[in-house]
Amino acid sequence: MQIIKNIKQMQVLSRKLRTQAKTIGFVPTMGALHEGHLSLVRRSKKENTATIISIFVNPAQFGPKEDFEKYPRDLKGDFKKLSGLKVDAVFIPDSKEMYPEGTCLLASSPCEAGQRSGTAVRFSASINVGHIGEILCGASRPGHFNGVATVVAKLFNIVIPDRAYFGQKDFQQTVIIKKLVTDLNFDIDIVVCPTVREADGLAMSSRNSYLNNKQRKSSAILYGALKYGEGLIRKGMDNREAVRKEMQTLIKSEPLAKIEYIEIIRPETLEKMKKIKPPAVICIAVKIGPTRLIDNVII
Ligand code: PAJ
Repeated sequence: MQIIKNIKQMQVLSRKLRTQAKTIGFVPTMGALHEGHLSLVRRSKKENTATIISIFVNPAQFGPKEDFEKYPRDLKGDFKKLSGLKVDAVFIPDSKEMYPEGTCLLASSPCEAGQRSGTAVRFSASINVGHIGEILCGASRPGHFNGVATVVAKLFNIVIPDRAYFGQKDFQQTVIIKKLVTDLNFDIDIVVCPTVREADGLAMSSRNSYLNNKQRKSSAILYGALKYGEGLIRKGMDNREAVRKEMQTLIKSEPLAKIEYIEIIRPETLEKMKKIKPPAVICIAVKIGPTRLIDNVII
């Protein structure tokens, strides 16, 4: 397993793999790897002759008041998990490598810092994903999805994979990445893999490590509410407001939970569905104490 920090070196390796007629599967991550991430790696290993994973905590997708600083980092543990899976390379650039001097690092004010200080902005292009990045999670995280799209586009240009693997857990992210690839003509297949869950249904997430015992127990309410909502729809309840209200009441029964949103949307466009007609996705964001968790089910 090669560990690569430098963009040029990563490009040289991926070019070499392509000249060897290998198909490259790529799994972008922010590290603190868990079984959810590893399921993407295993799928890539199955479907490609080479697999590359990136670990980069991308400052451009965190808001100024978000958890960039305290986001869990465990490179040693990550390498151990990956070496067991025999990936070809792990790409671990640092922020300076990805965003040279002059870049505004945090989401919501692209390049403002460089402009304010009057310094030459060496890195200034970024991707704006438009309306689909401003709804659902984007409403409370301005600039987040532009930061995600920008780093993913950069990583795609560096790795040039045949296929890239993303988890359904971040449903809005998968729709935005598919749109990015279509709109900007990346010749890459986007493969969306099922959400891996803990025994009580909680979707695995690097941020679950923020939860104390009591909060961890409460967090099972997310999947409980999603399954409840799914059941109601499958039994024929097709009124969005009615399903949302039922789910809301259930989540509110958990004292530590604070709802950010419950939405029932069309899978391709993320539009709200007034009258529910599958295929539909129920998406939720709930705060358990200070920790914001998201989850979804596709119906
Ligand atoms: P990160 O949160 O580390 O997730 C990396 C990938 O793992 C994403 O595609 C995510 O959806 C997937 N994933 C996370 N938890 C999962 C689970 N329980 N089951 C299945 N897949 C899961 O998402 C990001 O990083 C970043 O936004 C990134 C795309 C790397 C851009 O910086």
